[in-house]
Amino acid sequence: MNMLLFSLIFLLATSVVATDTDLPSLSNVTAAEAFVEASEVAVIGFFETPSEETLGYKEFVEAARNVRPIPVALCSDKEAWAKFSVVSDTIALFRKADKHQENLQLSGIKKIEADGLTRFITMNEIRFLTEYNQVTAVGLFQSEVKTHLLLFVNRGSADYDELKDKLAALAQEFVGKVTNSSGRTPVPEFLFVLIHGVKSNEKSLGYFGLTSRDLPRVGIYDSNSDMKWLMPDGEISTERVREFCRSFLVGNLKDVKQAGPPDRKTEL
Ligand SMILES: *[C@@H]1O[C@H](CO)[C@@H](O)[C@H](O)[C@H]1NC(C)=O
Ligand SMILES: *[C@@H]1O[C@H](CO)[C@@H](O)[C@H](O)[C@H]1NC(C)=O
Repeated sequence: MNMLLFSLIFLLATSVVATDTDLPSLSNVTAAEAFVEASEVAVIGFFETPSEETLGYKEFVEAARNVRPIPVALCSDKEAWAKFSVVSDTIALFRKADKHQENLQLSGIKKIEADGLTRFITMNEIRFLTEYNQVTAVGLFQSEVKTHLLLFVNRGSADYDELKDKLAALAQEFVGKVTNSSGRTPVPEFLFVLIHGVKSNEKSLGYFGLTSRDLPRVGIYDSNSDMKWLMPDGEISTERVREFCRSFLVGNLKDVKQAGPPDRKTEL
């Protein structure tokens, strides 16, 4: 056999094997917990029998490939299933930003498709700083956390990376400090959201009375009260944003003028 042909066959053979063994298999509770703990967002396919014949398995493997670099693993260990309260073949997404586990029970789905599973994952990909778009909007508004700290910024502006890093770091200070009204599980205070000054976000910007020329700016939207505020113009430092968040938490923003289009009345 000539060398080229041999390497071609070898390549094909390995790539076929790779699709099957690509995903790490978590064999016990410790391994599963460590996997979840290691990332802001992680996905586990809990399949009793991870094989081609299993309902949804092939589609899950394909979805895992579509959502790279989100870490995805398999787990058949029954103790781990119990630990994560999984009762039948289920895809679960774990995220740190709002300490949430989102389950998708496969037996409850009429038609399982890789695209649908991919969408389930990308929709729920809520991070410490989540980029706002049509897909993440669904996950953001389904979260138990109802207050958003918004960074409006033009992609590629001079301070873009710095602002993103700063706010992603600050977001972690606001995770899990407050207990909900029944006084039990701590829920985070804010989800931090990145809104690019692009055409598709014109409406969101307009809601705060902004256009892309005004950026970068920082705002808070509270969906519980449907109220919104802009941090006064000026340097966007960690200290100022932290203070802005705190002033919301202690109730000081209630008396501050809300953000919005300047001349609501003249529009009528
Ligand atoms: C759990 O699984 C990991 C990886 O498969 C292994 O290294 C470890 O020894 C296992 N731990 C226990 C307690 O069985
Ligand atoms: C508080 O958290 C617990 C545990 O997550 C939940 O069962 C309960 O419904 C929550 N209460 C409210 C009022 O959100």
